[in-house]
Amino acid sequence: MAILPIYTYDARVLREETRAIQKPDSRLVKLVVDMFETMRAANGIGLAANQVGQGLSLFVVDLSETDEKETRPLVFINPVLLDAGKNEIPLEEGCLSVPGVREEILRPERIVVRYRDMDFNENELVADGLLARVVQHEYDHLRGVFFTDYLRGLKKRLIFPVLRNIKEGQTKTEYRIVPVKKQAVLP
Ligand code: NI
Repeated sequence: MAILPIYTYDARVLREETRAIQKPDSRLVKLVVDMFETMRAANGIGLAANQVGQGLSLFVVDLSETDEKETRPLVFINPVLLDAGKNEIPLEEGCLSVPGVREEILRPERIVVRYRDMDFNENELVADGLLARVVQHEYDHLRGVFFTDYLRGLKKRLIFPVLRNIKEGQTKTEYRIVPVKKQAVLP
């Protein structure tokens, strides 16, 4: 098990579409274990594979420390968002890749997501509440979208210097990060 460094705004790997996983193998199992460990060490409730530098269609969720009824650790492989209800609600979001930013974002309250689990079995999950929110946030990561991309107007202007500081590696975090500036020298 290992705690991995988290890639931050506006890393290339976090802006590119991720690849589908063809077949789970022992490397994938190790990556998932490391992702859970990394997420928990950083007090996160969701983490996408590209946040640890792996451009794969995969994210993990753990709501066991929250009030949500879903307390099992969940692994979503090759997820597809099938249906997002018409009713949208505002909810505050944050992201381990965008430290120091928390903003209210409007998204569908209820979703249906199809995905494969660790046995590569296909599942469909109907979710609402915090689970629906986390799934949509992580799903966005897999297609290169940050929650801050939804901000408009004054809110967008106000976070601009914060995002610039993150890009320049001037933001302090309690967990290990890979600032964009240093990514060029990594393999
Ligand atoms: Ni995030």
